[in-house]
Amino acid sequence: MSISDRNFFEGKDFGNSPFKALIPKYYPLAYQKYISEETKLLKQKLAWTNNILEAGVGIGRLISEIAPLVKNFVGIDNATLMLNEANSIAKEYTNVKIIHGNIEELNELFPRKYFDYSLCVWNTLGNVDDEIVVLKSLWNVTKGSIFITTYLKGTIEQRENRYQTMGIEITSIDKDNEIFYSKSGLRSKSYSLQDIKQLALAAWLKIVESQTIHNVMLWVELKSLEKN
Ligand SMILES: C[S@@+](CC[C@H](N)C(=O)[O-])C[C@H]1O[C@@H](n2cnc3c(N)ncnc32)[C@H](O)[C@@H]1O
Repeated sequence: MSISDRNFFEGKDFGNSPFKALIPKYYPLAYQKYISEETKLLKQKLAWTNNILEAGVGIGRLISEIAPLVKNFVGIDNATLMLNEANSIAKEYTNVKIIHGNIEELNELFPRKYFDYSLCVWNTLGNVDDEIVVLKSLWNVTKGSIFITTYLKGTIEQRENRYQTMGIEITSIDKDNEIFYSKSGLRSKSYSLQDIKQLALAAWLKIVESQTIHNVMLWVELKSLEKN
């Protein structure tokens, strides 16, 4: 996470209120539907596996959904507010560990190919400084698939509505590249399938499955280009 993102994920837009940006009941309908579809897909893909990583665990939204289905769930984040929130949920589970760290440097925290599957969802990839560095970092520590969801290009209007609904003050929109900037420091990118394909290739990954979810988000499953 870049320094400028810090205030956003430390809750600057919401003061003492809940962190609405990661709580589906505050979203416009299309995004609520995306969240339930993504949760369903992840549960199908991850059930009965051993080691799962969520890169950018946020407030721990997925812990109660995924942890009961897997042996070990590790969440990593670098924002204090996010870590506190995720930890308060994690303490209910004996198989969940929340770690303070940078998702660009996962190889410093875990052995090579330690995780069966990794997740980097709800546009976490669109918040990082360098997507290729993050994808390479995930590749290093993941044996099987890496599941990514990002904002889909071509959805500027829906995103404007989402930020407005949640009370996030947007200061500018790069309409050519579909990147939103908030007063609190968020820089949020979006992607086409072709964009992700190129980023994946640069990180020695290929897309094995993809779909758009409710016309607002892009879901991809990535695997290593290396033969296992
Ligand atoms: C859009 S939120 C998604 C949270 C969660 N995955 C979810 O689906 O609810 C992105 C999260 O990634 C974290 N993050 C962004 N860049 C990071 C980095 N380089 N290292 C660790 N965490 C990062 C942010 O602090 C934030 O909690």
